[in-house]
Amino acid sequence: METRTLPVDASKIGKITAVPVPDDVLDELDIELDFSSQHAQHLRDAAEKLRSSNVPVAFPTETVYGLGADATRSAAVKGIYKAKQRPSDNPLIVHFASLRQLRSLLKSRDSTQANGTSTNGVEEDPIPEIYRPLISRFWPGPLTILLPNPTDSPLAPEVTAGLKTFGARMPRHTLALALIQTAGVPVAAPSANASTKPSPTAAEHVAYDLDGRIGTILDGGPCDVGVESTVVDGLSNPPLILRPGGISIEQIRSCPGWDNTQIGYKNTSESGSQPKAPGMKYRHYSPKATVVLYEPGQDAPSLADLRSQATGRSKFGLIRTKTWKVELGRTPLISREPSSPSKHRTNGVHIDKTPGFAGMLQSVRASDRAKSAITCHTVEVEGSELHILDINLGSDTADIARGIFSALRDLDRQDVDAIFVEGIDDDEGDTAAALMNRLRKAAEVRVGS
Ligand code: TXA
Ligand code: MG
Repeated sequence: METRTLPVDASKIGKITAVPVPDDVLDELDIELDFSSQHAQHLRDAAEKLRSSNVPVAFPTETVYGLGADATRSAAVKGIYKAKQRPSDNPLIVHFASLRQLRSLLKSRDSTQANGTSTNGVEEDPIPEIYRPLISRFWPGPLTILLPNPTDSPLAPEVTAGLKTFGARMPRHTLALALIQTAGVPVAAPSANASTKPSPTAAEHVAYDLDGRIGTILDGGPCDVGVESTVVDGLSNPPLILRPGGISIEQIRSCPGWDNTQIGYKNTSESGSQPKAPGMKYRHYSPKATVVLYEPGQDAPSLADLRSQATGRSKFGLIRTKTWKVELGRTPLISREPSSPSKHRTNGVHIDKTPGFAGMLQSVRASDRAKSAITCHTVEVEGSELHILDINLGSDTADIARGIFSALRDLDRQDVDAIFVEGIDDDEGDTAAALMNRLRKAAEVRVGS
């Protein structure tokens, strides 16, 4: 199968406006595609494939690229598992472009009964009350909520992998929303990587993993958040975070009814008791090279540490974040600047609310920087050369989250023996816990855990 990457610039697909919905917590998008533009044509082609073919389509979201299929057709959903080689017991998140679309799916239950109307004749919202504050603050955005899958659900059974619930998310990316709305179907989409590989944050990552296995990649530039959505379960008491992600636990806990939210995930890749989000039990986010993760507070790796992971090429990747420095010509080569804990810490809630539809439409396109800047240092130790491919993601937690998967992939492509990563404190800001969760799953060796 030939894989086509279609560039689409969200600002060139036509006229998109946010329309307020009376008495509802979210606006709706009004989308008028301008088919004189090639960007709109590409979007329409992809939407058409979603609706009618069984080969999934890759598209950008604000978190990571997704691999989408019509969530109501089994054959299409099976195409996702096949392309990714994903285990079939790992359920998929269903993406919606409006609350109307989500409610219409939820209301399909028990159509024979006068369900959905309370005794006083007012229509009940099929979305459980507990989720209202979360939806109004964080949708569209990196948050997935678990909902009961209605009896006689239109969702293909492969979406839920046999569970009684399904994950629903409204992404905060104009192209994702326009694609779902144009296709007119709810879109099941996992991350668009080959199973076990780091999630893709640029179209070229998708092409690298899935070339020849899918037909279409919509290229909307690099992703803004860089780690996947937070998965929450508000149907259990107390509510649970099943996967840390783009919305932090502090942000969730600050919503009415969510102050006692507990962590329902584990941070390692070790198997053990059954995790509540089935996907969290699998090996994940792993490049070919051994990942050596330094928990925060550990000394930076010495040259001897690097060499202990040599498997022949003596070529190592280094991903630096808040404190590691590289000094050439001196020993130690890599050092740690004493960290001042308050310096970068954002303490608690950083974003009160995602910008909503209006904010999303105004925001500029994410930078086109898909590749990490790699500096190569060569040092001679006892007559042999060590090559250190060095990526500095900087000290801003959001920048680190945005760049981490790309950095792992870019170093892996250079065939390094091992990748040494400087971890950060779980509470260093919004996406820190999500980032460390992914790194701990990717790491084969953890220093200081
Ligand atoms: O940001 C994201 O969420 C991205 C983009 C593409 O939207 N999607 C994504 O999907 O990360 P995926 O399939 O890679 O991860 C879905 C996670 C898995 O850990 C899965 O087990 C969990 O959500 N999940 C899905 N449905 C569930 C359910 N009914 N109950 C518990 N966990 C569920
Ligand atoms: Mg994934």
